[in-house]
Formats: sequence, structure tokens, C-alpha cells
Amino acid sequence: MTPVASAAPGTRSGEGSAQALGHLLRPGVDVSHGPILYLEGVTVSFDGFRALNDLSLTLDDGELRCIIGPNGAGKTTMMDVITGRTRPDAGRVFFGQTIDLTRLSESRIAQAGIGRKFQRPTVFETMTVFENMELALAGDKRGWASLRSRLSSEQLGRIESVLALVRLRGEVDRIAGTLSHGQKQWLEIGMLLSQEPRVVLLDEPVAGMTDAETEKTAELCLELEKRHTVVVVEHDMEFVSRIARTVTVLCEGSVLAEGSMDAVRGDPRVVEVYLGR
Ligand SMILES: Nc1ncnc2c1ncn2[C@@H]1O[C@H](COP(=O)(O)OP(=O)(O)O)[C@@H](O)[C@H]1O
Ligand SMILES: [Mg+2]
Repeated sequence: MTPVASAAPGTRSGEGSAQALGHLLRPGVDVSHGPILYLEGVTVSFDGFRALNDLSLTLDDGELRCIIGPNGAGKTTMMDVITGRTRPDAGRVFFGQTIDLTRLSESRIAQAGIGRKFQRPTVFETMTVFENMELALAGDKRGWASLRSRLSSEQLGRIESVLALVRLRGEVDRIAGTLSHGQKQWLEIGMLLSQEPRVVLLDEPVAGMTDAETEKTAELCLELEKRHTVVVVEHDMEFVSRIARTVTVLCEGSVLAEGSMDAVRGDPRVVEVYLGR
């Protein structure tokens, strides 16, 4: 157990987790006159195949949006476009009113406040839960070395409240490699949250989870709502209906339907391409 890691559980900041987590209003993100994320006419082609085909999508600040749709519908590609991993061939992608995401690098987009969790967890297996969180806070390993000795009480408080939120408060000193699959997913979400993103993108967060883990993840998503704008791509329909507000159905690279869970469930086109299979 490292001195820093053992210091963590005893360090109570006394702050409510909402306060400790309260996202910083980054000056660049203007949501005063419109949505926090805005995609219009986005097209991405791979060798002539349109993974995204004139996709338009609007997300309001603080909403929890579920995205469903058959395999190959373009859900992951949509996240790749938002996070700057893939450049669209055509269309507009804006963060708030003024930030053109097609002009920013992946790291700039992350810094601007868009965090993303990939399908498979990518935690550092040989490090403890706490060290993973420290590393996420530092942003890179070089920063980490100097950070270890001088985490501020505010930073410790933030790590603590995030770990409480992602149900890992009791596991701070566990080697991440020994966590269950679900716990690794939560740790990765925690690492994401330590950056205080405005927008959190979760790609298939409950894949491979037990029923109990899936239920806890649903609760977590509902807790993230409002503090963050949350976009969840998921195939598990029970999970989706548990957390659903507005549901967007993607098919062949564009929006097939959008509305409440009941509305999209009752849409014959959605039943045909997805739910009815
Ligand atoms: N880098 C890539 N090169 C070629 N084809 C790709 C690439 N990424 C995605 N695709 C294709 O684009 C389509 C959409 O994929 P994806 O966005 O992963 O769908 P989803 O996440 O909805 O299952 C699929 O047909 C996939 O094979
Ligand atoms: Mg996918």
C-alpha cells in the first residue's frame, strides 16, 4: 500500500459529491442559445460505404440520451466523430454554439469537456484503483510522478467522491486487474468523471455485466444525469428502458426514430429493423 493510497480513504473533504463533482463551466462552451451537442448532415464513408449517412442529432445540456440500433448502424462511428477520432466527409459537428469539433484534435476535444468510455475497459491492470484515478486526474504519466506527492485536498476529495459515485469507495487499494469486469467498467467511468466532462459518452457500458452490476450501472447513469450530458449506446433493452428519457434509434447511419421508449417500441419501423429480431 502506498502512502498516498492509504491516505485517501481517511481524507474526508466534507463536501457533498455533487459539489465536488460539479463540472467546471468551461468558458468556451456556450449552451445559452441551444444544444450542447449538435450534429447536422454528418456523413462518414469507409471505402464508399456510408457508416454515417446524413446524420443529424441534437442533445440538450444535462440530458440523458440513449442510442440504440442494430449492429453496424453507426453508433460507435458517431462517437468517433464527436470525439475527433474520425473526421466526417461532410456535415457539421458542434459543441455548444461555437466550438466546431471537426477542427479540434482528440485531445483538445477531451480537454474541452467531452469524455468517452470505449466498449472494452482500458484501466491500468497492475495499478491500484486509487492510482488509476490519480493517473486519470494527471492526464498523463509524466504528470503523475509529480502529482503523487502533492495531491491537493480538493483533488483527494474529488477522487473520493467519484469513487463513491462509481461504487468503488471500498476498493481503493485493490489492484485493478483483480476487479470484476463490471468494477473495471465503473473504474473507467470514474477515471472519465475525474476530468469533470460536460458530456459523457458511454459505448455499451453494461456489455458482459451481471444483472446486479447492470442495475447498479443504471442507477449510476441516472445519478450522472443533470450534472453531465450523458449519451449511452446500449443493446440491453431492459437496461435502456430502466434509464430511458429520449431514445434515438440509428439505422444505416442515420436517425430512424426518436422519442420516448414507448414511442420507439411501438414504431413499426423500429420493430422491423431492430426490436423484432
Ligand atoms: N475504420 C473502419 N473502416 C471500415 N469500416 C468501418 C470502420 N469503422 C466502422 N466501419 C463500418 O461502419 C459501420 C458502422 O460501424 P459502427 O459505427 O461500429 O456500428 P455500431 O457501433 O452501430 O455497431 C459498420 O458496417 C462497420 O463495419
Ligand atoms: Mg459499436
